[in-house]
Amino acid sequence: MAEQTLTITDNRNGKTYTLPIQNDTIRAMDLRQIKVNPDDFGMMTYDPAFMNTASCRSAITYIDGDKGILRYRGYPIEQLAENCTYLEVAYLLINGELPTKCELDDWVKEIKMHTMLHENTKKLLEGFRHDAHPMSMFISTVSALSTIYPEAKNVLDPATRRRNMIRLIAKVPTIAAYCYRHSLGYPYVYPDNDLSFPENFMSMLWKMMEPKYAANPALARALDILFILHADHEQNCSANTMRAVGSSQADPYVSTAAAAAALYGPLHGGANEAVLRMLDEIGSVDHIPEYIETVKAGKRKLMGFGHRIYKNFDPRAKIIREAAGAVFEVTGKNPKLDIAIELERIALNDEYFIKRKLYANVDFYSGIIYQALGFDPAIFTVLFAIPRTAGWLAQWEEMITDPEQKIARPRQIFTGHWIRDFVPMEARQAKGAGATT
Ligand SMILES: CC(C)(COP(=O)(O)OP(=O)(O)OC[C@H]1O[C@@H](n2cnc3c(N)ncnc32)[C@H](O)[C@@H]1OP(=O)(O)O)[C@@H](O)C(=O)NCCC(=O)NCCS
Repeated sequence: MAEQTLTITDNRNGKTYTLPIQNDTIRAMDLRQIKVNPDDFGMMTYDPAFMNTASCRSAITYIDGDKGILRYRGYPIEQLAENCTYLEVAYLLINGELPTKCELDDWVKEIKMHTMLHENTKKLLEGFRHDAHPMSMFISTVSALSTIYPEAKNVLDPATRRRNMIRLIAKVPTIAAYCYRHSLGYPYVYPDNDLSFPENFMSMLWKMMEPKYAANPALARALDILFILHADHEQNCSANTMRAVGSSQADPYVSTAAAAAALYGPLHGGANEAVLRMLDEIGSVDHIPEYIETVKAGKRKLMGFGHRIYKNFDPRAKIIREAAGAVFEVTGKNPKLDIAIELERIALNDEYFIKRKLYANVDFYSGIIYQALGFDPAIFTVLFAIPRTAGWLAQWEEMITDPEQKIARPRQIFTGHWIRDFVPMEARQAKGAGATT
């Protein structure tokens, strides 16, 4: 077998270094020995946006972007979406193995014991304006749970971590539903633990005066599949935020709130909302060519297209397209579907998109299903955050228990003024856009 090392020659002084290779990777810290003068800091790597840097070892989720593969703990996403419930998948992500019947029953029972919110949390929600964005309310409320469960800061205790992970998985649908009801001005609906996880969520969203909410089983199943597809996606922007904030040993509530804030952006989980707004703006199939031209001219992005990792197809988009069929059989077809299908067809045949390997991602179709289910676009990202909470927590648990991890702290290449003398106020000259005379 070939030697697993990398030899580097520094042409500044002709010195050669041999670095070990493991998993096709060299350790950035091994570069630090590369110096010209003994008091140099040593060689670093520069990698804005972490394009080619592994920040951790992880056994949770595997993605092969070129082949369109997504696996949780080794199981293909297609098999999990077909055979599991979301709570079974959440168990798999956090514990590493699929549960036995008995383990699943206990897990579901434990989750159900924690679905209610403290009444103070309700009061907090009432303080938000009626038109507050549901994602802003969600982030603040998840963070506020830290005030109700202060023991959660004991992050080095496995039992405390587990208890608070269960609380988070159980309470995020309740928070999401309360945010939704708050926007509508409707009274909050308490959890109904006779119902399954997605049915209970639907009950908290849509129950009115009827004594018990009866969810349509096909719609509840479609929602559960969407939850499975969104549960984890390895080291994306929000998972990386969860790990970075959690690495300072902040409690899981504020860390999850930070991860949710990262998800909120339109380049991450906010894309599904942006897709619906884009389809509204396009309006009809005959406006598509004109719209595509503005995308190609660099004036805007085609939302729901492109992915940092998937450069062939997004396996989640394929499953969602199938789930959409089941939903539309119940709800009738969402008229935006025709625009979306035609948009995808044109883009897949256009040189601009082919050359850049831009394909429909998970967000392209999920918004259309959510809308058919009766959700307003403003709440789409909250629907993403509910199942992703299990993924964030699995990543957090792995980070906390990894002896190689420390507080996350990248380096920088300093580009500012080296040193200059203080200038008294009266001697300062106004400069730049904000300057006033
Ligand atoms: C997801 C995303 C942020 C990935 O970004 P990335 O890996 O940094 O890719 P880049 O921005 O380097 O894009 C590479 C090229 O494709 C273009 N491109 C990427 N996504 C595009 C899109 N959705 N529409 C049009 N052009 C796009 C870029 O302009 C760039 O073109 P250039 O080489 O001529 O400059 C990006 O594709 C995007 O913004 N997509 C829309 C938002 C979205 O759907 N996000 C959800 C992700 S699940």
